[in-house]
Amino acid sequence: MPFPSNFMWGAATASYQIEGAALEDGRSECIWTRFSHTPGKVKNGDTGDVACDHYHRYPQDIELIQSLGLRGYRFSVAWPRVLPGGTGAVNAAGLDFYDRLVDGLLAAGIMPAATLYHWDLPQVLEDRGGWTNVQIVDWFSEYTDVVTKRLGDRVKFWLTLNEPWCTAFLGYFIGRHAPGITDERLAYRAAHHTMLAHAAAVPIIRANSPGAQVGIALNLAPQTPATDHPEDVRLAHRADAFQNRWFLDAVFKGSYPADLVEDLQARGILDGLEIGNVSGVNVPLDFLGVNYYMRFFIAHDPNQPGKTTNPFPPGTPMTAMDWEIYPQGMADMLLRVTREYNPPPMYITENGAAFAEPDHVEGDVLEDPLRVDFLRGYFAAAEAAIAQGAPLRGYFVWSLLDNFEWAEGYTKRFGVVHVDFETQKRTPKRSAHYLRDVIRSGTL
Ligand code: FCB
Repeated sequence: MPFPSNFMWGAATASYQIEGAALEDGRSECIWTRFSHTPGKVKNGDTGDVACDHYHRYPQDIELIQSLGLRGYRFSVAWPRVLPGGTGAVNAAGLDFYDRLVDGLLAAGIMPAATLYHWDLPQVLEDRGGWTNVQIVDWFSEYTDVVTKRLGDRVKFWLTLNEPWCTAFLGYFIGRHAPGITDERLAYRAAHHTMLAHAAAVPIIRANSPGAQVGIALNLAPQTPATDHPEDVRLAHRADAFQNRWFLDAVFKGSYPADLVEDLQARGILDGLEIGNVSGVNVPLDFLGVNYYMRFFIAHDPNQPGKTTNPFPPGTPMTAMDWEIYPQGMADMLLRVTREYNPPPMYITENGAAFAEPDHVEGDVLEDPLRVDFLRGYFAAAEAAIAQGAPLRGYFVWSLLDNFEWAEGYTKRFGVVHVDFETQKRTPKRSAHYLRDVIRSGTL
């Protein structure tokens, strides 16, 4: 069964991962500027200071997107470029950049899909508590208003937040991402505030961008019990609440999962946090963005009650991130969300893989058979999910370009287009041609 002819095929990027020009034209420091310049936080001491230099090379990158036949391009807006003080004075040069980018995309016949927040919080706001400070709801509203007032006449596909799970839990609990804090109580504050900020932003976008489709991108991942041992099953259910239901329930039901809340309350994690107002978070959305990368196996650790381990069966196929390759997991997740949440149309807003690849490439195409297989498998899973009733309307591959992969720096290449970070030369990989052919033919 081929994909519908209007299926929204595209590729995705994020501002800090590709733009570079970190402190140019009035852009201020973001939490990733600070974090990546802190020794020991990012592999090889890599930073996003230059990245893919997209800030200067965006016209060629638009040509590239066009040459691949992509119908949509998902990018994010850098808050510190637009409001260097986090709030207050607008930086005209910063906003102008996105204006030119959007006009360029439209002139090339490509639908712009803009994410308002893909992790580059202005450092000045982090200095005031960042996502742990409830004032972030006002800060984010102000920023949303500025961006959507300017671009809302032309951008008609908006995402509020990218992967709030990562913002809250990688940023403030696990500490692997900026701002690198490891405090569970603060992390749940951040998690709650992402939901309030999302809900506050939606009507602002609608007011400034009539007729726009508005959604959010959640990173959803199945949590599979490693065995049918009751403790594995219980912990997998708990992991599912933490990873998936916390955000899905908030966005679609205006509540948090009772089992997780009970556990958090018993440990005092939510003390002093007003979570009752989650009841206002389920504002109507036009779509759900699903960023899908992996599933987890969850097993109990007999030596540490309540703790989990992640025993992948021997021989499990993995990407260079050590993420399992299991397309069926994506179909399962799309169908589960369809069953349990009656969602609006869904889009895969990210899916892709990193594999080991050279820093420099000769010739005009880089062979990446593993990525071609990966994509073919996941596209087939998407097709199967559609056939079984999932309202999937589009698919953005992560990523257009090799880029700054957060704590992994430049060591993990996710692009369908190779980037030589010394020369900034772009070389399509075979997977880019494969994607182009799938879009053209509608068949895998
Ligand atoms: C996602 C992020 C994206 C990219 C991919 C590999 O969690 O949203 O920026 O780093 O992972």
